[in-house]
Amino acid sequence: MTKPKFYITTPIYYANSRPHVGSAYTTIVCDVIARYKRMCGYEVAYLTGTDEHGVNIERAAEKAGVTPQELVDKNEKIFRELWKLLGITTTGFIRTTEPRHAVAVQNLVRRTMRVSPDAIYKAKYEGRYCIYDNLYVSDTPEPADCQICGRPGELVSEENYFFRLSAYQQKLLDLYKGNPQFLYPDFRFNEVKSFVESGLRDISISRKSIKWGIPWPDDPEHVFYVWYDALTSYMSGIGFVDGEHDSAEFKKFWPADIHAMGKEIIRFHAVYWPAFLMAAGIELPKQIVAHGWLLFEQEKMSKSKGNVAYPEPIVRVLGNDALRYYLLRETVFGQDGNFSREALITRYNADLANGLGNLSSRVLTMIANYCDGVIPAGRVTGEQLSDNHRQFLGRFSDVGVQVILAAYEAFGFAGAIESIWALVASADKYLVVEKPWTLASDPLRRDDLERVLYVAAESIRFMAVIAHPVIPDATQKIWELLGQTGKLADVRIDELKWGDLKPGTKIGKPEGVFPRVDKKEALERIETMENEIRNPGSTQPDSSTTTTKKPAEGASTGTSAAGTAAIPAGAPGAGASAAVGASAAAAAAPAAGAKIGIEDFAKVELRVGVVKSAEKITGADKLLKVMVDIGDEVRQVLAGIAPAYAPEELVGRKVVVVTNLAPRKMRGEESNGMLLAASAADGKPVLCTFAEDIPAGAKVK
Ligand code: MSP
Repeated sequence: MTKPKFYITTPIYYANSRPHVGSAYTTIVCDVIARYKRMCGYEVAYLTGTDEHGVNIERAAEKAGVTPQELVDKNEKIFRELWKLLGITTTGFIRTTEPRHAVAVQNLVRRTMRVSPDAIYKAKYEGRYCIYDNLYVSDTPEPADCQICGRPGELVSEENYFFRLSAYQQKLLDLYKGNPQFLYPDFRFNEVKSFVESGLRDISISRKSIKWGIPWPDDPEHVFYVWYDALTSYMSGIGFVDGEHDSAEFKKFWPADIHAMGKEIIRFHAVYWPAFLMAAGIELPKQIVAHGWLLFEQEKMSKSKGNVAYPEPIVRVLGNDALRYYLLRETVFGQDGNFSREALITRYNADLANGLGNLSSRVLTMIANYCDGVIPAGRVTGEQLSDNHRQFLGRFSDVGVQVILAAYEAFGFAGAIESIWALVASADKYLVVEKPWTLASDPLRRDDLERVLYVAAESIRFMAVIAHPVIPDATQKIWELLGQTGKLADVRIDELKWGDLKPGTKIGKPEGVFPRVDKKEALERIETMENEIRNPGSTQPDSSTTTTKKPAEGASTGTSAAGTAAIPAGAPGAGASAAVGASAAAAAAPAAGAKIGIEDFAKVELRVGVVKSAEKITGADKLLKVMVDIGDEVRQVLAGIAPAYAPEELVGRKVVVVTNLAPRKMRGEESNGMLLAASAADGKPVLCTFAEDIPAGAKVK
């Protein structure tokens, strides 16, 4: 039997900077929906990508001293890596600089001109444009500020191609009327309706003043307005060519079931996009779903405002599920929500470590200890059941499941999670009342013990299935610990029934799924890694992986406290990777032994240095203050080499210096670089040097 299809998209992300927690929110929410739909038996296409054209990219590239293509190539990778780290289950990724996309955009406009000859026309445009939000702020030349970011719009005066949006006002209103679910949530839908009712002006869909874009067909002096270009990605990403020669994937999945996004870009999706598609004679998406903003320090989290938190450090310290759980639980979908690292860690400890994690490890341990690690038979007969027992089982009825599934369907993620965690709390209570640890000491009550443990284990299986779309990693682990085979993702959530756990199943060796963390320490680690992302090289990596989950392996590669990279000979990643350890901790740190690209290595600037002087630092046994000539300047570097070198023997010695590390203060002295050293078996550093003659300042590469 063929599966029903479901197609969901995130917006494509501007590739002018790296993603933050606010950006990740859209992708995580869509991932929860995609996973949920798959578990309901749908074949799901899930698309994301990067928006790589436009003035904001051009300007950002100029500022960074690279070409726009170089900038987007670099950032696109960061997005892809992040989605991988977050376990996002997209099936497609589209970049607007890909030829398949450009062809689709040009064909869409050609098709529009054919199907609706009046829809596009050429005219002079004068107005104000916001280059940050890629939006026409006003259609007159007078100064005007952007409605989204508040910055002044830039004056644009040129001949453009226009889209006759005004002609689609009534058609859009009819669409909204005929499809009361077209936009979720309702209050946003009402805003859009009022906007359209108040009258629509034609919009310019080409630009002459910029070069970084897709050329207009047969008029290459113009490039496409970025929103026309970007919106088309929802079709080009699944194989739209021109409406006639499209891929099988496009034919299967278009129209999209859900375009999800943040509230600030609803108008482009609920007004412009359907109008563009109507004019081209293409089926319209079924639903536009908008979430609110994640606020950080009272404002929308946004790179340009500088108030961002990054997902990578959170994932490395607390795990992927922690971020997903927190974002979905704490923010009522559709409304704005606050992001706070403290609240995230508190939730992690309370709900995940002490909640589901603790419950599952207790139950598994009892089964291991009292039942030889085998799921006991849960002989449940009416007369034997206590009220507590009966009440607990009542929570897992079909009706209970339907309530949670209905919450998922209605984007009520916080509600779904609350209901699931109410099950966790009632399981805790159930155990407290039934006291299996007491039953275990009475051989006459063996049946009762087995029943209680069966019920507890089955409740955990149940919770794992129903929470899987939100916390996929831990629930898969619980699934396996319960001795279940295969992927939990393949289990039908909509067919979840009490009692499917088979007695006699051998469970795995009990282990924690959410180790508890020390709040202060976890916070410090997250903040340190965040600082590294903001100012690469500004801090030394923390090599003590005291907290749990997925420590930043790359970060701990033998980097000593002060300015030397002491590298055990033959250690994985010896050499350059230790030198980059600090920033690798913050960005997607490669796993120990993993390969890095040459571009990663090229980030580290290494030069030949000649030691001019060296002296001990009072109160620091291991540190030497070394003045080292690196060709065009003499740098002060604090190096942890005092146990191996007397200051006087260093003078005149050639060393390898990492010259682009951010300065750092230790013992009140600034260290401005790092000396490379190997680490001998006894832990003593051995400085890297040169056998041949080589001048100070020569590049090491
Ligand atoms: N490139 C356009 C979309 C084109 S789609 C045809 C764009 N990109 S974006 O990078 O600015 O935003 C991508 C997504 O991230 C949007 O859904 C946006 O709402 C979301 N977020 C960015 N910052 C956010 C918060 N602080 N909070 C929640 N979501 C936010 O717009």
